[in-house]
Amino acid sequence: MPRSASILSTGAYLPSRVLSNADLEKMVDTSDEWILSRTGIRERRIAADDEFTSDMGAAAARQALELGGINPKDIDLIIVATCTPDTVFPSTACYIQQKIGATRAAAFDVQAACSGFLYALVTASQFISSGVYKTILVIGAEKLSSIVNWQDRNTCVLFGDGAGAVVLQHRPGARGLLAFDLGADGSQTEILSVPASGCRVPITPAVLDQRLQFLQMSGKEVFKYAVNAMNRSSEICLENAGCKPDQIRWFIPHQANQRIVDAVATRMNVGLDRFVINLERYGNTSAACMPIALHETSMLGKFNRGDLLLMVSFGGGLTWASTVLEW
Ligand code: ACO
Repeated sequence: MPRSASILSTGAYLPSRVLSNADLEKMVDTSDEWILSRTGIRERRIAADDEFTSDMGAAAARQALELGGINPKDIDLIIVATCTPDTVFPSTACYIQQKIGATRAAAFDVQAACSGFLYALVTASQFISSGVYKTILVIGAEKLSSIVNWQDRNTCVLFGDGAGAVVLQHRPGARGLLAFDLGADGSQTEILSVPASGCRVPITPAVLDQRLQFLQMSGKEVFKYAVNAMNRSSEICLENAGCKPDQIRWFIPHQANQRIVDAVATRMNVGLDRFVINLERYGNTSAACMPIALHETSMLGKFNRGDLLLMVSFGGGLTWASTVLEW
C-alpha cells in the first residue's frame, strides 16, 4: 500500500479591503441585484497595492504551520498554485520560501488557473506516497485584482483576492487522499484567458490600449462547460474512490458562481446543506478558493476525522480537477 497523504493543518489569508456590489455600482454599469441574482456574490476582498500574491500566500502558510505545530525548516517542498504570480520568474513559491524561512524546502509553482490548487494537492500527494518527502506545504494564492479589467462589467464583478494553505503529511492509519481526477481541454483556450503578457502577445503600448493584459471570458460558454466538467469529474473521482455521493459528508466546489454550484448539486442529487459555499463573501479567488473554504470550514469545527470530502474545481485551460479525501 502506498503511503497516503493527509491534511495536517490549514491556513487562510484574506486582505482587509472589502469591495461590495454597491462599490462596483460606482465603477461600472451594474447593480447589486444583477450581481447577486446572476452569481450569488455580495462582496470580495482586494489586496493593497503593495500586497502581493506571495505576501498573502506566506500569511496563509504561516497560519497552517502554526496550527500544525510545524517548524518551517521541516518543510520538504512548497507548491504554490497561482495564475497571478508575483513575477514570471522567480516562482511565487520561491518568494514564499524566503518569507516563511523554509530554507530546506524545494519550491515551484503550478498553473492550472482555478483548478490549480487541486492539481498542486495531487502532485504533492505523489511525493508523500512515494516516501520521498514527509512534509509539504500546498498553497493557493491569487491577486486577481491585478489581471481584472476594472472597466469590463462582464468580468470585474466576479473575482477577488486571497490565499489558503494546507500542510500535507502521511498520517498512519488515515486514508487521506483516496482518489483524484485531473483533466484538461486545450481546444478551449479562447473562452477564458489573459491574452497578453506572455511571449505570444508581448506587452506593447498598442496591447495595453486594447487592454489585452487583462482577463477575458465568454461567460455563458464557460458556465455550460463548467457544470458538465465538474459533474463528470466528480463522477469519475467517486468511482475511482469506490464511493457513492451519499458517503460524502462535504462537497467543496469551486466558488465561481452560485448557479454553477446549484446546477452541480442538482445533477448529483445532493442537498446544498452538504456543500461548502463562501463565494458570497469572497467571489471567485481562483486557486485560492479551495484552501480558503477548507480552512474556514475546519475552523468552524464542521469536519470530523473520517469525514469524506469531495473537492471539485474548474478553470481556464480549460482545466478541471476533483479529489476524494478522508479528513
Ligand atoms: N451588470 C449588469 N449587466 C451585466 C453585467 C453586470 N456586471 N455583466 C454582464 N451583463 C449583461 C450582459 O452585457 C448581457 O447584456 P445584453 O443581453 O444586453 O448583451 C446580460 O447582462 C446577460 O449576460 P449573460 O452573459 O447572458 O449573463 P449570464 O447569465 O451568462 O451570467 C456570468 C454571466 C455571471 C459571467 C455567468 O455566465 C458565469 O458565471 N459564467 C461562468 C464564470 C466562471 O465560472 N468562471 C470560472 C472560471 S474563472 C478562472 O478560471 C480564472
